[in-house]
Amino acid sequence: MRNYTMETRILKADQVKQAAEFIKKGELVAFPTETVYGLGADATNEAAVRQVYAAKGRPSDNPLIVTVSSVEMVEKYVDHLSEDAHRLIKAFWPGSLTMIFKLKPNALSKAVTGGLDTAAFRFPANQLTLSLISEAGVPIVGPSANTSGKPSPTTAQHVYHDLKGKIAAILDDGPTTVGVESTILDMSVDQPAILRPGAVTEDDIEAVLKRQVNDERHHVNADQAPKAPGMKYKHYAPSAQVYIVDPDDRWTDVAKWIEAHPQPIGVMAFQNTIEAIDWPMNAQILTLGSNSRTASRDLFADLREFDNHPEIKIIFTQGLIPTGIGEAYMNRLNKSAGQMHFKQL
Ligand code: TXA
Ligand code: MG
Repeated sequence: MRNYTMETRILKADQVKQAAEFIKKGELVAFPTETVYGLGADATNEAAVRQVYAAKGRPSDNPLIVTVSSVEMVEKYVDHLSEDAHRLIKAFWPGSLTMIFKLKPNALSKAVTGGLDTAAFRFPANQLTLSLISEAGVPIVGPSANTSGKPSPTTAQHVYHDLKGKIAAILDDGPTTVGVESTILDMSVDQPAILRPGAVTEDDIEAVLKRQVNDERHHVNADQAPKAPGMKYKHYAPSAQVYIVDPDDRWTDVAKWIEAHPQPIGVMAFQNTIEAIDWPMNAQILTLGSNSRTASRDLFADLREFDNHPEIKIIFTQGLIPTGIGEAYMNRLNKSAGQMHFKQL
């Protein structure tokens, strides 16, 4: 059994070698990516991988992403990378596109794949993590480094909050820039299918492939198992109830509602909205910056900030038109809000 009161070290850029030593010894190390922080363990060490599920409290039927620092690492586990796969790799790696490929028989343990004959591969755009993987000499599994069900971590401090005492180290490279998890594209089927929207959009992918991708994510419903097993769980849930303020709602109406309900109420809005409105005293306001990119970057951090204030039971959050990265933002926000909108109040 693992000692769950171990010291969790925060390691900086000049301590990558130390982080790699932990990985080689079968220990868990959280690592930075451009999207969110991941929880790393040697993907070829089954015992280490099992500890990842334990530390996160993650259901064991939910497969893990395999994080690599070279295309050769992928080719070790995958029979054949198609022309399309090579085109996408050239266009988007390193970067926020995770691709699912069919594995060679028994190439990775069941602990990684959840018993599937495929695995999801990711080549992140973070130099520290690419050095960590190269130094360790093995791919590392990389689920988001949060307690299962909590918003994904976008800073080393978020990881520390959730996993202190349960993992050996956190490699700290400051706040992440994208803020929502990678796009997941299933390349193991005839027509490539997006299973989770992210910063690399459907249009981006179709422009490279010059053909249509399948929109699996619109077909997911209760009586049909989602293709990305993780998508069926309630995710990104803060303790307060989140209400989406749709683009056609008026924030002045939200401010009036807050004034009529004298209790601390959270607001996550664009900076120009924040400045334009005369807020009642009980509004607790966090910014989402100025556009869909900054909103995606700040979404999880803001939700976590409100989680530190249990007196806040209601949060109003800016909804976006679901195009570009706005689609990934709305996918995560809808889960946080459980589909609740200001209009319903
Ligand atoms: O940006 C990201 O992708 C982050 C950073 C840390 O790399 N990682 C991440 O991992 O979001 P995770 O485990 O939180 O989400 C991975 C998703 C899960 O929903 C899982 O079910 C799905 O990918 N997945 C993994 N392997 C799969 C496979 N072979 N087939 C279908 N879905 C798979
Ligand atoms: Mg996750």
